[in-house]
Amino acid sequence: MTNALAPVRLLVIAGSARKGSYNRQLADLAGHKAQALGAQTTSVDLAALDLPLFHADWDAQHSVPPGALKLRELFASHDGLLLACPEYNALPTPLLINSFDWLSTVPEGEGHPGGAATTVSKPVGLLAASPGALGGIRALPIVRTFLSTNFAMVVVPEQLGISQADQAFDEAGALKSAGYDKILAKVVASVIQQARWRAAA
Ligand SMILES: Cc1cc2nc3c(=O)[nH]c(=O)nc-3n(C[C@H](O)[C@H](O)[C@H](O)COP(=O)(O)O)c2cc1C
Repeated sequence: MTNALAPVRLLVIAGSARKGSYNRQLADLAGHKAQALGAQTTSVDLAALDLPLFHADWDAQHSVPPGALKLRELFASHDGLLLACPEYNALPTPLLINSFDWLSTVPEGEGHPGGAATTVSKPVGLLAASPGALGGIRALPIVRTFLSTNFAMVVVPEQLGISQADQAFDEAGALKSAGYDKILAKVVASVIQQARWRAAA
């Protein structure tokens, strides 16, 4: 865990691996804001972890996939998470759920606790973007429950859902709406504050 004086280290994850993903864009923007506040960030491409679709029989017949071990190592070595996830039919994406299901199955090892124990009490800020009218906000309460229960993460109260995401970013990747930008800054600042409190505790 970070000591109170060390920079906060945050993972930056998108629940979509689509080329041109609005949620990746939003996650990266959040990461840049975190860096501006002194945090160190690590961008994670969940698809690059190459995790199979979780199936208990597969799990019983194979060793833990390297991508799941990598995810455990990433969570063990960071203080919190900035997450932007689209909604698919009002739910978080299979990519996000599958990745965290795998994380939850990884036993302790290589100096790290078991997968879900790497997330305990670490803060997470929730973001979503959609070209639709609701901005992905129907899935955010589900992500909130998912991460705050078995993964025991501290989901900060501030959150942001960006509607009409196909028109929300300018050419430099910034948000055109000052209102959205202000909320994004609040989400990021809240995650960093929580991580600092945790380090000082
Ligand atoms: C299977 C599927 C289901 C979707 N369901 C929703 C939905 O419930 N609400 C919504 O706002 N957008 C929905 N969309 C549209 C996504 O928000 C859109 O594809 C978005 O660009 C995905 O995020 P990304 O840009 O980060 O990849 C859905 C897209 C797919 C492929």
